[in-house]
Amino acid sequence: MIRLGVNVDHVATIRQARGGREPDPVTAAHEAELGGADQITVHLREDRRHIQDRDLRLLRQTVQTPLNLELAVSDEVIAIALDVRPEQVTLVPERREEVTTEGGLDVVSGLAAVRAATARFTAARVAVSLFIDPEPAQVEAARESGATHVELHTGQFALARRPDEVAHEVERLRRAGARAHDLGLHLALGHGLDYRNVLQVRDLPHVAEMNIGHSIVSRAVYVGLREAVREMKRLLA
Ligand code: PXP
Repeated sequence: MIRLGVNVDHVATIRQARGGREPDPVTAAHEAELGGADQITVHLREDRRHIQDRDLRLLRQTVQTPLNLELAVSDEVIAIALDVRPEQVTLVPERREEVTTEGGLDVVSGLAAVRAATARFTAARVAVSLFIDPEPAQVEAARESGATHVELHTGQFALARRPDEVAHEVERLRRAGARAHDLGLHLALGHGLDYRNVLQVRDLPHVAEMNIGHSIVSRAVYVGLREAVREMKRLLA
């Protein structure tokens, strides 16, 4: 069964819109777990636009499932991550002007920096995943960096509309996923997955985990977060 990581950043985005106390991503993580989340995922951005340091520290103390912290390859947030020690970190690219994470981490060009960051986390016994575009060269560079996990960026797939484009993107994910499996890397998918498009990638071989945020939090507005997570879990079963 595919493990579901629920990304609660979007709950913090609503809170930050008013700068107050609600909704609280810590409470949301608890609700997500009651709905069957297998992991809680948050992104501590350098600009702190949604998740705050306080959220991360409280989540570290309260979540019952593994905590997956997304972060940029940047000394400031790496130091925080090493202090908080989540079960897993996912290294992602970050550009301040982007609305959300737009492309995968370019491990091919940034291998030295990724390798150095990976070594620091590995020494602290924190598992390292790299969020990369579904390209065999990126998967190979991920393996060279010492990371043990990759999360293939499904954003292009999620944006594809014409059936031939969708088929092309699914094939890219299949190929990159097969390469990751051959190299002994744990395989995850994430970004832009929703209650419809997930049906087209849930049967890809070797996928062990999906990290999903926006669609689940959006559905939670209507049905509540616990139920929204339950529904996604049913689709992955
Ligand atoms: N995985 C990674 C690495 C991400 O950066 C994000 C977005 O924060 C997600 C998964 C979740 O994407 P979405 O909110 O589109 O489901």
